[in-house]
Amino acid sequence: MTEIAGKAAVVTGGGSGIGMGLARELARQGARVGVADIKPDNAERVAAAIRAEGGEAIALVCDVTERSSIAAMRDAALAALGPVQLLFANAGATSFTPLLDMSDTDVDWIVQVNLMGVMNTTRAFLPGMIEAGGGHVCATASMAGLLPGWMPVHVPYSAAKMGIIGLMMNLAIEMRPHNVFTTSYCPGGVASGMKANNGSYRPEKFGGPEPVAEVQFTSGDTTHSSMAFYRPEDVAPMVLNAVRHNRPFVFDHADQRRLFAETYASVVEACYDDLEAWQAANGVPQGNPTGADLID
Ligand SMILES: NC(=O)c1ccc[n+]([C@@H]2O[C@H](COP(=O)([O-])OP(=O)(O)OC[C@H]3O[C@@H](n4cnc5c(N)ncnc54)[C@H](O)[C@@H]3O)[C@@H](O)[C@H]2O)c1
Repeated sequence: MTEIAGKAAVVTGGGSGIGMGLARELARQGARVGVADIKPDNAERVAAAIRAEGGEAIALVCDVTERSSIAAMRDAALAALGPVQLLFANAGATSFTPLLDMSDTDVDWIVQVNLMGVMNTTRAFLPGMIEAGGGHVCATASMAGLLPGWMPVHVPYSAAKMGIIGLMMNLAIEMRPHNVFTTSYCPGGVASGMKANNGSYRPEKFGGPEPVAEVQFTSGDTTHSSMAFYRPEDVAPMVLNAVRHNRPFVFDHADQRRLFAETYASVVEACYDDLEAWQAANGVPQGNPTGADLID
């Protein structure tokens, strides 16, 4: 079990949407919360709302695409809140532009914010968690990371979100001796600022804020009937429940969990069919445990 009450928590992208919901719920459950965001006013607004509800929170400024910005944010969090044992690496941005119409800097931005942002934020907080005797990293991935076909026109985003899942699963093994657990949160439709504000999140080094794109949230998978958008305050308790129980994954839409299971079952089935047919015709590859003769 990962206890939440009495711990210090940091939520990146805490100034809006899912991150705001997580920050408020963490405070309700007794955590001291650092609300980190690239938009300082939004971070302060959320921290102030938490304090007004009787919780403990501070605003932190951070651009997760900059290691030095993450380090400064972490140092400020440690100074104000004490050892941070709960990290919600949630900041993210999207793009609804076809891959070949994206600029190079846009591709870089989407990968940097969604994948490297989680990687670098996690790396910055892990040593402190280990020193404190343990902790939990919950990264916000996406259903677009588990089922890339579910959200079309999202190539770098899907790749980055799938990367987060690999990051969290592999890290869990490495961190087992240190009592640090990981969760990949895969939202599948949560009302947030992403539709209206996404373009404004682009840092200067990637071209600065851009006009807000006309985005349409529709599922590419026709077997998935609904694209319901839940409220952040309703999904946050589900996510914290998964964190409390050290679950590696949490979804928020039950029908998407079913779709995931069906899709991957058919992928695995197809792999085995092909492999068995190939090996029946060509033979089973021989092992080469020493690696001898592989290099000329
Ligand atoms: N809303 C959904 O349906 C949905 C679905 C799948 C995944 N997600 C993921 O959920 C996470 C939260 O998004 P949301 O839907 O709440 O959207 P949102 O736009 O409401 O929140 C995103 C937050 O991240 C912040 N941010 C953006 N770039 C940043 C940066 N470089 N450094 C620090 N902060 C930055 C923004 O200022 C904003 O406060 C994202 O990772 C997103 O990809 C959301």
